Formats: sequence, structure tokens, C-alpha cells
Amino acid sequence: MRGEKMPLKSDILKELETNRGIAVSGESIAKKLGVSRNAVWKAINQLKKDGYEILSSTKRGYRLADSCDLLSVEGISLHLLDKYKSLAVFLHREVDSTNNEAKKMVASGISDNALVISEKQTAGRGRQGRAFYSPEKTGVYMSLVIHPTLNINDSVFITTAACVATVRAIEALTDAKPQIKWVNDIYLDNKKLCGILTEAVTDFETNSVQSIVIGIGINIRTANFPKEIDTIATSLNDSKLTRNRLIAEITNELLNIIENINDKGYLQEYREHSLVLGKEIIYYKNNKAHKAKATSIDKFGGLEVLNENGTTEVLRSGEISVRLNNEA
Ligand code: BTN
Repeated sequence: MRGEKMPLKSDILKELETNRGIAVSGESIAKKLGVSRNAVWKAINQLKKDGYEILSSTKRGYRLADSCDLLSVEGISLHLLDKYKSLAVFLHREVDSTNNEAKKMVASGISDNALVISEKQTAGRGRQGRAFYSPEKTGVYMSLVIHPTLNINDSVFITTAACVATVRAIEALTDAKPQIKWVNDIYLDNKKLCGILTEAVTDFETNSVQSIVIGIGINIRTANFPKEIDTIATSLNDSKLTRNRLIAEITNELLNIIENINDKGYLQEYREHSLVLGKEIIYYKNNKAHKAKATSIDKFGGLEVLNENGTTEVLRSGEISVRLNNEA
């Protein structure tokens, strides 16, 4: 829609999102947008048909209900920092996976950064071929496409950066105290809240990373998890939080860290939020499970562990498991 004349509906949605919590009169909207009150009324009705809960009172005017948490390009762009306002945001009602969608865009030659989001994923993907449960309207399913000039080895920093950006955004907007489970999961009260799947599109000839797709999935208001993950997954459940706001905040934080990727200060935040440091873990190497203690996170984001036999090792990728208080 970029470049085209935005429909009135979009301008009005922007007004309502800007004034969340405050009623704005039909007259003032009409005046500001240079249209009739009747045109405003019609556009409000269209928005209601699209699913927006809009409260109207003849005296005070229109406002979005606090419980209205539909994703919109307007609602996200509103909260992007000025320097990122022009970021292209692609909103879907349903896709198989926002990462797949983003990778298709990269394959078709997109050269600007972009954000792909969806209300629902029918085949959300996690690491190691696992599925990411992505029910409609209750989660954040976002993929950020960036085109950094990075050596293939440096792209590991991006997942770490995405964890820190997500933690910062959650802490800025809610009272939750999220923790990071090395390398790419975010936990709340010892249960998984968020997973991050970073995928690089590489140029084999130069061994450089052409584009990176950073997929972030967060459970926001998931009522019922499938039985397999019911005891190990959780959601944020903050009634005041809007997903638009959270997506914008994560995007601001992440683009900011990436812009200054040589400043590794964010690694300290990664360490401070670690769920695993000082704990007994199990890691997998050559198809074998090894018991160890997680001792530190090095300057490359690797996890240093102390093996049972007294030797040390740095894990650079892969899965670990950690015994959490809520597990038997
Ligand atoms: C994991 O738990 O191993 C990572 C989960 C990543 C899920 C997100 S949701 C948005 C993006 N699209 C996907 O298909 N996966 C990522």
C-alpha cells in the first residue's frame, strides 16, 4: 500500500491508535482529515466490521476499547522510532510461517529491511524442525528481514541480539521478568514464553550473509496450549499490553542493536538475564547427552560449561536442557 493513497479507514485507525484510552469526536477527526462527519461514521463502521472494537458515545466520540488488540500496520508504525518509521510492514491474517514468507521476499529480491507479521501461523517453525504453536490473535509472530554486511560467523550475534531486544521490550512494557535460556528461548517463571528462529540467506561464493530473517514468536494471551507443551509453555497475559506496541518496541530495540553490532555491550544484558548460568545442564554432542555446569557466556555468545570430568568446553550452537524448579 506504500505510495498509494491510504484509505480513510487507515487514517482513522491511526487516529484511534494514537489516542488510545481517549475518546476523539467525529467532528475533530472529520476536521483533521478534511472529510465529512458522515464519511468518518462510515469508515468507523467499516473498521467495526473488520473486527475493531470501537466504543462510541454521542457526547465524547470514538475510542478503541482497551481490550482491542488487533494487529495493524498503523498501530505498529505509530510506535516505531522516527528513524525506522519508513520500515515496510507486511501484515497477514494467516500464513504458514512468517519466516517462510520473509524468505520468499528475500528470494524475490527485496533489498530493504522489512517486517512480516501475521495474526496466525498454520505451520509456525521452531529450531530443529519443531513446530511453534501459533494460534490466532493471541501471539506475536514476527519476522524481521535485514541485509547486514556480516561474515557468516558473526550472524550468531543476531540471535543473541534478538533475545536481548525482546527482553528489553517486554521489561519496558510490562512488569514481567523474562529470562534467556541459551541460546534462543525466553522464559518466564521457568516456562517458555518465546522462541527465536534466525535464518540466514548466504552467498556461497563470498561466504557472506546476504540477508537474515529473524523470526520471533511470543505467547501473549494463549488460553489453552496443546497437551504436549501445556506444562512447559506460558504466555505474558498482560491486559494492558498491545501486540502492536510490543512488536514496534522489539523492532526498535533490535534494529538499534544491529546498527551498532560492534558494540557488544548487549551481551552483558544477555548474561544478566540468563536462566542457565550456574545451573546443571545437559548438552548434546555427537548424538550423546553430556552432563555439565553452565559457567559463563563468552564474548561471542558461546556457553562455557564445566564437564563432570573437570574439563571445560564452549558450546557455540545446539540445544541444552536445564532442570527447572517446576519440573519433577
Ligand atoms: C523455537 O522455539 O525453536 C523458535 C520458534 C520461533 C517461532 C517464530 S514465530 C515467527 C517466526 N515464524 C516461524 O515459523 N517461526 C518464527
